[in-house]
Amino acid sequence: MSLKGVILLKNYSCGELNKRHLGTEVSLAGWVDRRRDHGGLIFIDLRDREGIVQVVFNPEVSPQCHEIASQMRSEYVIRVVGMVTARPKGTENSKLATGEIEVVIQDAEILNPSLTPPFYINEETEVDESLRLRYRYLDLRRPRMKQNLILRYRVERAIRNFLDSKGFIEVETPILIKSTPEGARDYLVPSRRHLGSFYALPQSPQQLKQLLMVAGVEKYFQLARCFRDEDTRADRQPEFTQLDLEMSFIDEEDILGLVEEMLTSLVAAVKPGVKLLTPFPRLSYTEAMENYGTDKPDLRFGMKIADLTDIAQESGFTIFESAVASGGKVKGICAPGSADYTHKQFDELNQLARGLGAGGIITISLSRAAGSRDELTMEMVRSVAAKFLTLEQIKRMASRLEANPGDLLLIIAGKPEVVNLVLGELRQEMGARLKLADPAQLAFGYIVNFPLLHWSKEMGRWEAEHHPFTMPRDEDIPLIDTAPEKVRGRHYDIVGNGYEIGGGSLRIYQAELQRKIFRLLGYKDNEIEPLFGHLLEAFSYGAPPHGGIALGIDRLVMLLAKEKTIREVIAFPKTQEATDLTFKAPSPITEEQLAELHLCLREED
Ligand code: AMO
Repeated sequence: MSLKGVILLKNYSCGELNKRHLGTEVSLAGWVDRRRDHGGLIFIDLRDREGIVQVVFNPEVSPQCHEIASQMRSEYVIRVVGMVTARPKGTENSKLATGEIEVVIQDAEILNPSLTPPFYINEETEVDESLRLRYRYLDLRRPRMKQNLILRYRVERAIRNFLDSKGFIEVETPILIKSTPEGARDYLVPSRRHLGSFYALPQSPQQLKQLLMVAGVEKYFQLARCFRDEDTRADRQPEFTQLDLEMSFIDEEDILGLVEEMLTSLVAAVKPGVKLLTPFPRLSYTEAMENYGTDKPDLRFGMKIADLTDIAQESGFTIFESAVASGGKVKGICAPGSADYTHKQFDELNQLARGLGAGGIITISLSRAAGSRDELTMEMVRSVAAKFLTLEQIKRMASRLEANPGDLLLIIAGKPEVVNLVLGELRQEMGARLKLADPAQLAFGYIVNFPLLHWSKEMGRWEAEHHPFTMPRDEDIPLIDTAPEKVRGRHYDIVGNGYEIGGGSLRIYQAELQRKIFRLLGYKDNEIEPLFGHLLEAFSYGAPPHGGIALGIDRLVMLLAKEKTIREVIAFPKTQEATDLTFKAPSPITEEQLAELHLCLREED
């Protein structure tokens, strides 16, 4: 990538210069990354988007330039003209791409001075995130952030090129729309022309892309901005970007195959060093929950959860017995080489487990007694449960968890959903502590065979596992009336390194079936029309069978950039409190603006 020819004040970019340019007169412009005054000579590391080059002001070459350079400070914007020369022997900098050369300056000007920045731009020092977000335009000058922006651009470009080659067209859909039920709270925009009415910002273009299928677009995609008023987390922002796509006349395999091909070629193009698991493993929802305790498992390492209920219930250990007696489960994982865990380490794990609703962890250390080999003996077992278990039972547990002497078994007894949740988190925690995941790997996988619905205790009604537009499996349609919990949806998720990267489904395209599902989800007939009438009407004008998926671009780029939050790959993200610290948004509006919208703020607010 080169800035060459784009800007007339410069004819080369700093980062592109090397020995091939020796003897060339170059015109450069950028920011002062660092200035060093060595008595006679002044050295400036000049930075632009492409990198850094050392420029030298020698009073014997140009006393005027030397004088100007003495006024230059960090982050001043300058322009220089000079000759590319080899650095004197012994002064080369192997850490810098341009480290073999320097530019001896014959002409220089300060284009704009700068205040002293609130944090170092030129060093990867830890800077408080709110300060970085307050001065995001300075933060983005830092090389790491610039690389992230470039990576994001390349990912989006690769996606566009790939989908174009497959016959997709990108269609923009409106931002001012009516809310679509995706499970989060809407951002609302008051209408000035229709007082008392509001637009909603789209949580996703779900219904719009379905209407595009009715319109005969057949293969649609969009890098779509979505808005959800929900709690912000490391992998969640109030506004984020999806690769949204939809196809007509397809089944699940078409979507899964397409996305696998796209991600494989994308990763090879933008991050060739990243290792993928291919073909992408596929797990049923039940397998994922039973073996990994989550529907977004990190597939870079094993440490699968195993069910020990049958062994535990024979043990005479009250904790196990009472869990099983009340319909619960006893399950565990094996942490390799961790038999010597200290009290403090156990305490930390216990706190984690209790915080998630478990009574505590039953640990069984299979310590490697001096001189012992592989054969497990009772002397090697350390556990509060030891005296209730026979050696035979412990061996069976160890064998089910593929544990060996030297390993630690972490066992949870309780309600099935709590057991899975806690062991899923413990698996993540132990995986991180033991560094089991290969950092060079990006393990994508598909989760399939989701139930269509789940019962929400909070709401006292059925809720869609994905969204209300998901097609049930044909053979399960009769169960909608009799056993909704048994109905499977034609829904799939894609996960990557423990994150949900995307989700999609085949859609209902018949008005009657869609109405039936809305009713099951608790919508009254008089609510269905105003909320979904447009969609149901469209379905009665020849809607083709269709389906699609949406991938979270922010999460995908975060994984490719090896960042821990999506904020690092978004140019201007919001804080945890959903504020923009650069613009100081949200902000109050004027009385006039409120009056124009016929809105007034309640006293107590
Ligand atoms: P879903 O709601 O599963 O599906 O979203 C798809 C993907 O979008 C990303 N994502 C987010 N990323 C950042 N911040 C958020 N707040 C956020 N919320 C979601 C995730 C997620 O997997 N219309 C359907 C898709 C379809 O059925 O085609 C939808 O939006 O990576």
